[in-house]
Amino acid sequence: MELRRQHLIDPVVCIRCNTCQEACPVDAISHDANNYVVSFEKCTGCRTCVSPCPTGAIDNWLLVDRPWSVEAQFGWDELPLEQSGPAVDAVTPPPPEEVSELMAAATTATGSAVPAPASASKPYVNLYSREKPVVARVAGNRRITGDGAESDVHHVVLDFQANAFPFLEGQSIGIVPPGADDNGRARNIRLYSIASPREGERTGFNNLALTVKRVAGGVGSNYVCDLKKGDEVRVAGPFGQAFLMPDDPHANIIMICTGTGSAPFRAFTERRRRNPHDGTGRLMLFFGARTPEELPYFGPLMKLPRELIDVNLAFSRVPGQPKQYVQDKLRERADELAGLLHDANTHIYICGLKGMEQGCDEAFADICRLNALDWTGLRPVLRREGRYHVETY
Ligand code: A2P
Repeated sequence: MELRRQHLIDPVVCIRCNTCQEACPVDAISHDANNYVVSFEKCTGCRTCVSPCPTGAIDNWLLVDRPWSVEAQFGWDELPLEQSGPAVDAVTPPPPEEVSELMAAATTATGSAVPAPASASKPYVNLYSREKPVVARVAGNRRITGDGAESDVHHVVLDFQANAFPFLEGQSIGIVPPGADDNGRARNIRLYSIASPREGERTGFNNLALTVKRVAGGVGSNYVCDLKKGDEVRVAGPFGQAFLMPDDPHANIIMICTGTGSAPFRAFTERRRRNPHDGTGRLMLFFGARTPEELPYFGPLMKLPRELIDVNLAFSRVPGQPKQYVQDKLRERADELAGLLHDANTHIYICGLKGMEQGCDEAFADICRLNALDWTGLRPVLRREGRYHVETY
């Protein structure tokens, strides 16, 4: 009997973020209210969708004698073990495919179809799932936007107690909100970036922090923002293998964010702050918010030593001041940034509002043009080398 390998998405791990569907160059991925699925007939096995997936749910390759139809996949609550094929070898990745031009072309959905920085530590992923979560206890929950601020952003610390939960800066976790969805099934995971360095929110404690903004009507964000100290929370993950911090004291890191997109950069900064080094690597932060009150972690950020981090804040709605976006701040620092772009140890990370991606791209193009650099040539090199990462939403 001839066995064929079928690309399938694990419904248990998938968080229905649509990244794979956006990334697929041949429209092989679709979804209904229940699942994301892959058409066997259309999928070419190019793996363009694999790297952008924040959870790894996408990376399943089943040996089958008769491929599963998309209709069958829509009905699944979990992956089948096999279909008349040998159980051993049932879920192993296919032989490495040649990473095609399509891969580079498909990085726009989240921009994260790039490898991790070469120096990044090896992450653990998918240790816990929606069905098999780890239970963490809330150690604290406080609002971190100013009193008058419209946005209600919270810093929530979760303690994993005796359970192992190894993670790296730049990874995310999934929170499983309590209750059931309209079909009576456990709710889908909500993904949040970790705001703590790998040592924990407090060094030596088995905990981590999240930066979560309350969204009107949002099941996940309201649940997390309303958590009380001592509450138990079901957690999946850790997730993410690309948006990792370079583990190299000589790496320059340019971090560009708005709002809660600052979470991974808080983790990066804390990692450097707590591990002083003799390396030459610089940290530059470009952070956009409406006003200082709306900017998460404004107070602590302003107290960081200038030798540790070069902070550039862009405020768009301060009365009497011109509207500024992060891309305006990038242009203001064109000379320093051009110097860093000439350096093969420089990494760029963008996290936050989707619109920011294009603005930053244009700013880098302008900066390059004025400084004898070619951004259209440089950007693909940075991506290929795991030095240009974008996570926008
Ligand atoms: P704006 O005042 O124009 O909304 P938010 O508070 O909605 O999360 O946004 C965070 C910051 O990002 C705000 O200052 C917002 O400005 C700004 N912003 C909105 N659109 C863009 C964009 N396309 N590029 C960069 N910053 C943006």
